[in-house]
Amino acid sequence: MISKTTIDKVYQSTKVEEVVGDFVSLKKSGSNFKGLSPFSNEKTPSFMVSPAKQIWKDFSSGKGGNSVAFLMEHEKFSYPEAIRYLAKKYNIEIEEVITDTKDKELASRRESMYLVVEDASKFYRENLNSELEGISVGKSYLTERGFNDSSIDKFELGFSFNKKNAYYLHATKNGFSDEYIERVGLAIFDKGNIIDRFRSRIIFPIKNFSGRVVGFGGRIISEQKKVPKYINSIESEIYNKSKILYGLFESKSDIVKNDLCYLVEGYTDVIQMHQSGIKNVVSSSGTALTYNQILLIKRVTNNIVVLFDGDEAGLKASERGIEMILEMGMDVKVCQFPESEDPDNFVKKRSKDDVLDFFKKNSLDFIRFKADKLIKKYGDDPSKKSKTINDIVKIISKISDPIKVEVYINECSKVMNISTQVLFSSLSQIKNKFKIISKKSENFLINTNDKESSTKKESENFELEYQIIKILLLYGDFEENFNETIINKKQDGKLDEEKIVIKTKVYEKIFLDLQEDEIEFTDENFKKLYQVLIENFQTNDKVTYDVIVNNLSPELSGLVSEILMVDEIYKLHKWDSKSIFVKEKSSSIEQMVTETILSLRKILIDKKISDLQNKLNKLDENESILSEVISYQKLKKVLAEKLNRVI
Ligand code: UTP
Ligand code: MN
Repeated sequence: MISKTTIDKVYQSTKVEEVVGDFVSLKKSGSNFKGLSPFSNEKTPSFMVSPAKQIWKDFSSGKGGNSVAFLMEHEKFSYPEAIRYLAKKYNIEIEEVITDTKDKELASRRESMYLVVEDASKFYRENLNSELEGISVGKSYLTERGFNDSSIDKFELGFSFNKKNAYYLHATKNGFSDEYIERVGLAIFDKGNIIDRFRSRIIFPIKNFSGRVVGFGGRIISEQKKVPKYINSIESEIYNKSKILYGLFESKSDIVKNDLCYLVEGYTDVIQMHQSGIKNVVSSSGTALTYNQILLIKRVTNNIVVLFDGDEAGLKASERGIEMILEMGMDVKVCQFPESEDPDNFVKKRSKDDVLDFFKKNSLDFIRFKADKLIKKYGDDPSKKSKTINDIVKIISKISDPIKVEVYINECSKVMNISTQVLFSSLSQIKNKFKIISKKSENFLINTNDKESSTKKESENFELEYQIIKILLLYGDFEENFNETIINKKQDGKLDEEKIVIKTKVYEKIFLDLQEDEIEFTDENFKKLYQVLIENFQTNDKVTYDVIVNNLSPELSGLVSEILMVDEIYKLHKWDSKSIFVKEKSSSIEQMVTETILSLRKILIDKKISDLQNKLNKLDENESILSEVISYQKLKKVLAEKLNRVI
């Protein structure tokens, strides 16, 4: 776990305009920056960054938040991944808090391994780019294969010398210990004999989701028999083959933008496609697709097109993968290349548009793909046909989205020329097996009527709590005149209502009123945000957006961004210059505050009444409760009158 001090340091150094600026080209616009939304393919900017408030807002998708929220949205980082990324960007050393010494050892061991691999990657790159052997053997090989310098740079390709242990000597000279070199498998220690794993190979660094190098693939330069064409780093505590996709780090923002991921087999396929301008592509590096790899893709898109080589082997390998993708509720299409072509050499010979056109025309949904294949295999034999249909329905039964199921059943009916009725009944037969299990869990659900009415109340509460937060954020430090009623006890013991006007800050009014009624927020996010805001007002007497926003969770920062930036959209579209009238929002702050608090009170009282009534029903005596209910009901009436007056 990353320590709180590290997180604080990260937040203190982070500037949202710099973080976003690494991914979006921003132009100054008044006190803000604007740019094209990185979440859609728009032509006029609807993306804004506010340095003063340290937030961003994307009006085309509705997303917004602080720096961390941006990284989580754009790079699909988890929270700790985003913090680590920022720490690296701003040169902040990460302090880990780990209580378990075993975990501590693992964390520091992994860190040491990352450093070894990072250094090795640099070494291989320098070999390729500035050493004679690297340039004449490695670079010329890559050039001949059609990779340009910017691709070589982008994928940080390298070269390992044709020497027994050039890497090992380099690493020890740089102070790396045998232990870690062995752990990452970059040298093989054999009875005092030390040999580099990669010799005379092109080096492809393999990066994890957040861009750290975890291992390498190495390709031989000249075809040799008995030597494997590619060798890879050994699996280690930082490199788990089944959880890595080659090219994902370089491709993920384009995958998000296109909401589509191409899946290929090889390293060179990924690089060549990038070079041709198709940058939403990853490779499973020749191994069968795993659940974990699919989960990685699911973090960035729900749509996969599997591209495979025009041979039987490629086809077989992808079949199980396709089923797994479907099971995970994602959409998958399949595109086969012509005989003896792979994406690498196919793309090389064509323009980007031609390639995309080919993909479009040749992508089949899985039913057609599977049906085509099975028909090819079994021909028209009726008994085989029924097996084919059963196989397909079995796959459909694993899809949970009923709409997709229907689409696929219809498709299958067309392709296999069989009625949807028959298909649905065979589907329900398969599904019935699982029904019994899911029925059991239904019994735990409470009465749906209860649920509905409580959701209504919840949403009412939600609206009001949202309103309170909004008022605090926008007008918390405004001073307003509030009408208050003071109740005095007169000398004769009677009560006397006195109406006075009190000038006070909005946040104080809200804080005192809510405290008086002991009103607690029901929504956890609002509750937290409320505490942060009140604390901020109490120490600074005004709202300091940048401090607040940078200390919020990404989720909360998104909420704040939504509230604060909503008016910016007018500026973005220059409505004021087109003299479109934007309502002056602060015309009745007092009214808004009073109304919101009274409404919250009303809900509170409703709740008290119904709680008491419940108690009454159970005890069916107890007069004191009854009188309490009556007095609350009176109060409710008074409130209703007040509310009407306000409105
Ligand atoms: P391919 O044999 O299709 O290689 O293997 P390729 O990507 O087209 O390579 P080039 O174009 O000849 O350079 C696909 C992937 O399978 C893995 C690699 O990740 C490769 O990119 N592979 C292949 C191995 O791990 N070892 C091998 O011996 C061969
Ligand atoms: Mn190839």
